[in-house]
Amino acid sequence: MLGCGLMGSGIAQAAASAGFTTVARDVAQPFLDKGRAGILKSMGRLVEKGKLTAGDREAAAGRLSFTTDTAALRDCDIIIEAVTEDLELKNGLWQELDRLCPVETIFASNTSSLTIAAMAAATSRPDRFVGLHFFNPVPLMPLVEVVRTVTTSQATFDRAFAFARNLGKEAVAATDNPGFIVNLLLVPFLLDAARALERGIASTVDLDRAIQLGCGHPMGPLTLLDYIGLDTVVRIADIMFDAYREPRYSAPPLLQRMVVAGYHGRKNGRGFYDYSVDPPVPSELGLRKA
Ligand code: CAA
Repeated sequence: MLGCGLMGSGIAQAAASAGFTTVARDVAQPFLDKGRAGILKSMGRLVEKGKLTAGDREAAAGRLSFTTDTAALRDCDIIIEAVTEDLELKNGLWQELDRLCPVETIFASNTSSLTIAAMAAATSRPDRFVGLHFFNPVPLMPLVEVVRTVTTSQATFDRAFAFARNLGKEAVAATDNPGFIVNLLLVPFLLDAARALERGIASTVDLDRAIQLGCGHPMGPLTLLDYIGLDTVVRIADIMFDAYREPRYSAPPLLQRMVVAGYHGRKNGRGFYDYSVDPPVPSELGLRKA
């Protein structure tokens, strides 16, 4: 596992829980410590709910190791990358691993907006490169999009698809267009929710309640934006806008302002809601009152 942030640690947890020996690599120890703490907390919640036995939790934790050394991934059969959505950063890591790993190792990216082709082409194994896109929170969300690009071989796609199912996930086949299936449809919806708030269509709470209660979504879109991370969503939207040049993928000014102001959502305690209080309350965002 390359990257031990929110997604990386969730994927590592899923792999270890499914019985795979799993190595999580990140650039510095504090990120690994945070990732490990998140995994243990999540496993603890699953044990409390009776979805995991204490014995299975211990076994899964025992299959997990954490490192800052990229070379420690050398012997893995499949390497999944979940680092920041920055093509240069990702390709630097892929090129390093391409030199280190045997030819048969499969490379998989959890990117949600970049193309798999742009990473596969940077390696000497474009046929053994695939997308495996997970959803947050990984331990609970059943879906994985398995993404085949121009160069992905059938054998690699089949192995990646089987691997996703062996993780206990439902796999769907997606083509290598930015956003794949879910984000292609979800991102414009989330951006429209921020636009609706910006235009004074309804309050934060009412916008969320309307979608939750009117459409049966588990979370309203503004809560979901906070949950994914506003900086992450803006980054995804920018990449998709660049690819499609369609206004529906352009991040509205409100969202951009919030990110500039350090409102990154739940992960740092403030976004459309203020998480310093329980239950969270809508943030004052400097919008004109009706
Ligand atoms: N690990 C283990 N258990 C967890 C957990 C985690 N990471 N997160 C939540 N839980 C547990 C809670 O402990 C809780 O357990 P109890 O029922 O025993 O209390 C249970 O899950 C439900 O959690 P909550 O009561 O806190 O909240 P909820 O009922 O709203 O469920 C949710 C939480 C599963 C996240 C649900 O709200 C949901 O499905 N939300 C939508 C998430 C979504 O859309 N994800 C996709 C985002 S897009 C993406 O990820 C792709 C991308 O590229 C951006």
